[in-house]
Amino acid sequence: MTCPLPEAATGRLRGAGCEIVTLPDGVPLGDAARHGALVGVDALVCTLTDRVDAAVLDAAPDLAVVATVSVGHEHIDTAHAARREVVVRTTPGALDAATADLTMLLILAACRRSSDAEATVRGATWTGWRLDQHLGLDLDGGRLGIVGWGRIGRAVAARAAAFGLEVIHHARRPTGDASFVADLDELLARSDVVSLHVPLTPDTRHLIDGRRLGLLRPTAVLVNTSRGAVVDEAALAEALHAGRLFGAGLDVYESEPDVHPRLRSAPGVTLLPHIGSATVRTRARMADLAVDGVLDALAAHPTSADRDRPTRRRIPYRSTATAHEETQRP
Ligand code: DGY
Repeated sequence: MTCPLPEAATGRLRGAGCEIVTLPDGVPLGDAARHGALVGVDALVCTLTDRVDAAVLDAAPDLAVVATVSVGHEHIDTAHAARREVVVRTTPGALDAATADLTMLLILAACRRSSDAEATVRGATWTGWRLDQHLGLDLDGGRLGIVGWGRIGRAVAARAAAFGLEVIHHARRPTGDASFVADLDELLARSDVVSLHVPLTPDTRHLIDGRRLGLLRPTAVLVNTSRGAVVDEAALAEALHAGRLFGAGLDVYESEPDVHPRLRSAPGVTLLPHIGSATVRTRARMADLAVDGVLDALAAHPTSADRDRPTRRRIPYRSTATAHEETQRP
């Protein structure tokens, strides 16, 4: 493991007979791999901050599975994993509700400019109530453009309806839903709020670049809880500084944990430290799904211990996937 999991999750692994080795805090996975730490490792539990590239995979000759405690998997060389017949497991479904909730928080914060307003209270520069102070935008009657119509995008749409927002959405392929807009540029031009819910791939890197930011209305708000590199951060910072955008709400950044300095000083922006899935219950579910992935793969694959002791009994495995699906049903 590259980080400790909640006790309930590690308990399931120990109960199944796994020996757990946790990478010391601050040691990059690549360094550990280069020093032979992955020899004899059958399963790797990692997070989105670990780069699992070809060199790491090749430094783990016994590896059967990489289980990332995240839904995103752009940090894993999945093509090389497939070549090496290493299973890659993610945590789909577990974080939809938490991420959709945080998206609403950012939509509200950006529309009401609550970070700028709060800064006056914290900085003791608030001089009292004024009729024209910190005027924001109403959600009720506005139009939300959702880019990416997966589980999280749809969970945001359901929440947005309760705030009186009309929802339109764009996806690579027609979704069959009435609010589908085939042309992303058109969706950007028609939306009061745009929220991004696409995975990071070569196609989506800087999907929202300077040109597309220019299509947004000056009264519009951009929210990103997907991956930082989906947006050209420098171009966004300039648009905010120039007043070409009303505001933005960001939970993710191009080079985490670094945040573009022009973004940190931009007006009308709420900046959160990638906490979309950070609730106690969601993180516990994510850890549990990663453990499912490990036990599932090890049950189907001879482990390094099996090879040493061919008569060893297979790890008993009971999937918790059904329970997770139940809790995620809208
Ligand atoms: C994920 O799982 O990919 C999220 O970004 C974590 O919050």
